[in-house]
Amino acid sequence: MSLSLIARSIKESATLKLNEKAALMKAKGDPVIHLGGGEPKSRAPIDALVSAAALINSGEVRYTPADGIPALKKAIIRYTDEWYNRLVEPENVIASSGAKQSIMVALQALVNPQEEVIYPSPYWVSYPEMIKLVGGIPVPVVSESGSFYPRLKDIEQVVTSYTKVIIINSPNNPTGAMYPEEFIAEIIDFCEKRGLYLIMDDIYHRLVFDAKKWVPCYRYAKDLTENSRLVVVNGISKAYAMTGFRIGWAVANKKIIEAMTNIQSHQTSGPSVIVQQAAVGAINGIQSGVESLRMTLENNRNVLVSLLKTFDGVHIQEPDGTFYTFPDFSAYEKSSVKLSNLLFEKVQVLVVPGIEFGMEGHIRISTCGTIKDITDGIERIKWVLDPNSPNELYIGERKLYRDWA
Ligand SMILES: Cc1ncc(COP(=O)(O)O)c(C=O)c1O
Repeated sequence: MSLSLIARSIKESATLKLNEKAALMKAKGDPVIHLGGGEPKSRAPIDALVSAAALINSGEVRYTPADGIPALKKAIIRYTDEWYNRLVEPENVIASSGAKQSIMVALQALVNPQEEVIYPSPYWVSYPEMIKLVGGIPVPVVSESGSFYPRLKDIEQVVTSYTKVIIINSPNNPTGAMYPEEFIAEIIDFCEKRGLYLIMDDIYHRLVFDAKKWVPCYRYAKDLTENSRLVVVNGISKAYAMTGFRIGWAVANKKIIEAMTNIQSHQTSGPSVIVQQAAVGAINGIQSGVESLRMTLENNRNVLVSLLKTFDGVHIQEPDGTFYTFPDFSAYEKSSVKLSNLLFEKVQVLVVPGIEFGMEGHIRISTCGTIKDITDGIERIKWVLDPNSPNELYIGERKLYRDWA
């Protein structure tokens, strides 16, 4: 077997693998609690379902333009106007099979082999692998302060003549941190001055808590012409609970979009027309589902944070949004892989090891599930880790014994 160098350098997606593991165990009837997931459990909006069903019923399901059907581009333009206060043209928009594909195609359009792509750590698991897939060099930046909020001076220190792109994801997976407005202003100014491309991964921008306001990047961009080096990425997966539909998009200058479209046209062609139609329904339809998801997540976050505060030595930076919390459990176990394995083995609770996101000692706990998932899951975790726990724990009918220190 002689696999390519790139194939050998790519890891599997830790989060997708965990989803599969949870699904298999649930199917076997195991009492697993999946606190590692990255998808809301609510139903897709009815407008999305009706819109897709109408197309299926017509029996006319064909290829689409590689950059998306006009109706979807129109919906994305309206969305960009509403949320970003910026009116763009259809040639500034590409729809892809998920925000993941938009980011991937943007990197393919922008990055040459050996060029560097910078992104703050902790980071979404796919960034380093995507950068490697295009032959680029991933450059994660850890904030010296240990905080989840990056500082421009930390980023400045790793910029070299090979730096081509910076990726910013705020609100952030895995920390839930929404970066301060001043930082967004600074990084945009910095990229404009240094001629760097800036990919804004805004996939969680509507899932923000405590009445905090997410700020669109264009507010601080001085160059809003066709020379702009901003690539804004968004999608329907998270806010509309439509992860399985696979629609995301990018908004950028026409040259970048044209290059991305050419690449995508040979890669997958346009996304499935059925799901493009569903996305039109979701974006143009009734939006109350997004707000009710946001409120549920905020409540879930409050419950999770208050439960985590009952642990001795667990350090929490409270998330501003998303459906993730990224507590520091290093007081109990420094290796996040060992800790995650222990929790899985002893009490069948699935969490994602922080090392997958570039930060050891932490675990990513998701609040996508029910309050019961969260309370039962944390109770089980506490039972494993707290030496003062009772000797026994019931999981359904099963009685577990604590036979470790
Ligand atoms: C930060 C971030 N960007 C992009 C994506 C991909 O979203 P999509 O489902 O639209 O491909 C995810 C999904 O987990 C994510 O967490």
